[in-house]
Amino acid sequence: MDNNIDKIAQKALEKIKNADVTELESLKIEYLGRNGFLTQILKSLSKYSIDDKKSIGSKANRVKNIIEKEIENKKANLKEALFDEKMRKEKTDCSKSFYFPFPKGTFHPVIQTIKNISTILKSLGFLVVQGPEIETEWYNFEALNIPKSHPARDIQDTFYLDGLKNLLRTHTSPGQIRIMEKQKPPIKVIVPGRVYRNEASDAAHSSTFHQIEGLSVDENITFLDLKMVLTEFIDKFFGSNLGVRFRPSYFQFTEPSAEVDMQCIFCKGKGCGVCKNSGWIEILGCGMVHPNVLRSVDYDFEKYTGYAFGIGVERIAMFKYGVNDVRLLYENDLRFLKQSEFNY
Ligand code: PHE
Repeated sequence: MDNNIDKIAQKALEKIKNADVTELESLKIEYLGRNGFLTQILKSLSKYSIDDKKSIGSKANRVKNIIEKEIENKKANLKEALFDEKMRKEKTDCSKSFYFPFPKGTFHPVIQTIKNISTILKSLGFLVVQGPEIETEWYNFEALNIPKSHPARDIQDTFYLDGLKNLLRTHTSPGQIRIMEKQKPPIKVIVPGRVYRNEASDAAHSSTFHQIEGLSVDENITFLDLKMVLTEFIDKFFGSNLGVRFRPSYFQFTEPSAEVDMQCIFCKGKGCGVCKNSGWIEILGCGMVHPNVLRSVDYDFEKYTGYAFGIGVERIAMFKYGVNDVRLLYENDLRFLKQSEFNY
């Protein structure tokens, strides 16, 4: 009988060593359960002599305890291994992007263009400031030397608010007045923002669009400074080394005034539909700040000079990205917005 118990024990330990969780459960029943091997032996002790009863009984009990313990140990080991495995599988790689499974968002091309323009001008020493979209006649017109009779003030072009007291700014130039009122020279700022004009929209016009105003005022600022800054800006923005020219023009708030053209980026100056065969496209307006503008903010116009420029954001975005209808920039058709040119 002793031998038999040893054999049973040996076999059981062998089986436990290689068992998985479910096998352990059946081994427990097989050896320790009510009809299990060891329970059977203990139950059958009555047929043995007193001495045998003692030795077989205690041996069977010892073996029972050992098997019980082994099963518990093995269970604990398996549980630990399973946990390790789970941790290994579910481990989070913190170096992966949090947004990994989601589609990557992009900036709207107008915003992207404002960012690109601002980055270049900041590198040339300009500070970015903001002005309000709701303005008064003083900031939008009067202080900028635009007389009452001027057609730009016409109710047809300007969105007036509150019974003509306030208006939606028609350009970012009132930003010039606001910064000069607040601060003495030297001034070197850009004012990006949304502007409004009461006009019908078509492929080239929209009643809401964006401009970036530039203003630099100090002693000894000359037209040469203006030419240098704008030529550098155009070269950097379009990255194309195309010709740039300054053409005499007229704005009430600058004297002299100029319009800046660059060689058409579509035909490289040869002449095409976009540049109406002239080889040149108009990029922005600029000039030397008019003494009347300096006077309106109580600057000493004998001492200080300055230049200003106004960039039409949509216009140069359209040239840069080859967009032929300004309305595409406002319809927010994802097929348009997702084009890779905008996503850098
Ligand atoms: N404010 C002018 C416009 O909207 C642009 C401009 C700005 C021109 C600054 C000269 C100097 O057309």
